[in-house]
Amino acid sequence: MKIEFAAFGPVESGDLVIFVGDDLAVPPAVSAQFGQLQDLVRRAAASERFKGKPAGTLTVPAPDSIGPAERLVVIGLGAEAERGKQDWRNLGGVLAGRVAGRSATVFAELPGVEDTAEAVAEMALGARLRAYTFDRYKTKKDDAEPDGTAHLTFAVAEPAACLEADARRAGLADGVNLARDLVNEPPNILFPAEFARRAEALTELGVEVEVLGEDELRRLGMRALLAVGQGSGHGSRVAIMRWNGGTDGQAPIAFVGKGVCFDSGGISIKPAGGMEDMKGDMAGAATVVGLMHALASRKVKANVIGAIGLTENMPDGNAQRPGDIIRTLSGQTVEMVNSDAEGRLVLGDVLWHVKETYKPAFMVDLATLTGAILVALGQEYAGLFANNDELADRLLAAGRTTGERVWRMPLGPEYDKMIDSKFADMKNTGGRHGGSITAAQFLQRYVGDVPWAHLDIAGTGMNAPHSETNRSWGPGWGVRLLDQLVRDHYESS
Ligand code: BES
Ligand code: MN
Ligand code: ZN
Repeated sequence: MKIEFAAFGPVESGDLVIFVGDDLAVPPAVSAQFGQLQDLVRRAAASERFKGKPAGTLTVPAPDSIGPAERLVVIGLGAEAERGKQDWRNLGGVLAGRVAGRSATVFAELPGVEDTAEAVAEMALGARLRAYTFDRYKTKKDDAEPDGTAHLTFAVAEPAACLEADARRAGLADGVNLARDLVNEPPNILFPAEFARRAEALTELGVEVEVLGEDELRRLGMRALLAVGQGSGHGSRVAIMRWNGGTDGQAPIAFVGKGVCFDSGGISIKPAGGMEDMKGDMAGAATVVGLMHALASRKVKANVIGAIGLTENMPDGNAQRPGDIIRTLSGQTVEMVNSDAEGRLVLGDVLWHVKETYKPAFMVDLATLTGAILVALGQEYAGLFANNDELADRLLAAGRTTGERVWRMPLGPEYDKMIDSKFADMKNTGGRHGGSITAAQFLQRYVGDVPWAHLDIAGTGMNAPHSETNRSWGPGWGVRLLDQLVRDHYESS
C-alpha cells in the first residue's frame, strides 16, 4: 500500500474519505473544498441509520461537487468529549478496509483532536497493517482478497508534521508484516536454513547477523536444541542478530524466539487434525526478526540482541525417544519424556547461550509454547511469566498502549517441583495441571539471575481472529508490543 501526505486540495480520482462526529457535522475544510455536503450526509445517514459512532461508516456515490471522485466515504468519530480515547490505529484499519483495492483521498480534518499528526500517523499504521495480504501461492489472483494496491493520500493541514510522525512508524508496519510473512509461509519453503537466510536479510538495515550451523551448535554444546531437530532431514540453525545503536559497553537487551519451523510432535506425534497449523510454531522467532527490523529501521539508540532457535520436530529413525536423557548446554540434564514438549528444549539452550555470551540487561522470550495457554487465556491475551516485577509491569503497560495484551501468570517453587525427574535434573513435561506454568518453570532453570520474561504466544501468535488491523493467519503479534517496551524504557536520547 502506498501512503502519501498532502495539503488539503481537490480529489483527482478514487474515493473521498471524510470524518464526522456523532453530530454528523461536515468539517469546515471539507466544505471549503467541496461545497455543501451537509444535506447529502444527513439524508444518507438517516436512510442508512449511520449515527457517526466510532468506526461506523457510510458510503454514497460522490456528488458532482467533489469532481472526479467515485464515492464519498464518511467515517464516524463518536462524541467529541470522547475524542481523546479514539483508537486511531483501528480507525485506519476500518478506512483501509472500506477502500480496499482502490485509491482514496482521506480528508483528515479531525475536529477536537489535539495532535492531528500523531492521529494521522496511527491511522496510516493501521491502514498498512490492514492492507497486508499473503497471496503469493495463489495462481489466480481473482481468488485473492483485494489487496495492498490501494493508494491512500492523507490530506492534512500540516503534511510535514504527518510525514515525520509517519516515518517513525513505517518501519514498524514493515516489521509486523515481515513477521506475518514468516508465520504464513508453508513449512516446505520455510525450513530452518531458509528462515536463517531471511533473518540474514536484516544486514541491509545494518543489523549484524550470525548464523550458527549444526557443526557450530554441536561445538557449542546446544545438545537439547539439536536433539529436537535430529529426527528431521533439515539441519537446525541458531541466528543471532545484533543491533549496536547504544553506547559501547552498555549491556544489551535481548529477545529470544522459538523457531520450530514445523512441530509434528516427533515420536510423541500429534493427531492429524489441524497439524498443518504447526507451521506457525516459529511465530516467536518471526516476531523477533520483525522486531529487529522495526528497531533497526528507526535506528534505535540501544544495544539489542535477537536470538532465534530454528529447528524442525519430526519423527524419523534418528528422532529422539521418550526416555532419552540430554545434557543441555547449561550442563543440566533433562529426561525427555514427551518429544512434543520441544520448545522448552530449544529455548533452554538459546537462553543459556545468550545469558552467558552477552550478559544482557534483560531477556524476553516469545514462544508458541503450550496449548494450555489457549485453554487459560484464549486468543486475547498472551501469557506473561517473569522473574522480575519491573519488567513484567513494563510489558503489561506496553500491552495496554499497543492493544497487544498480556496477562501475568504465576511462577513458584511448588510448580518447579512438578518437573523434577527420577533420573535426571528435570523432565520436559510436568503433567496435565498448570501446563503453561510448568513449561515456564522449565525455562526459568536456564536464565539464572538475569531479569527475564517469557511470553507464551500459542494463542495470540498464529491462527489469529480477524480484526480491523489484521486479516492475516499469522498476525505478527508482539512486534508492536516490544517496540513500545523499548521506546518507553530503553532508548537513550
Ligand atoms: N507448539 C506446541 C504448542 C502449541 C499448541 C502452539 C497449539 C500453538 C497452538 C508445543 O510444542 C506443544 O506441543 N506443547 C504441548 C506440550 C505438552 C506435550 C506438555 C502441548 O501444549 O500439548
Ligand atoms: Mn510440540
Ligand atoms: Zn511446539
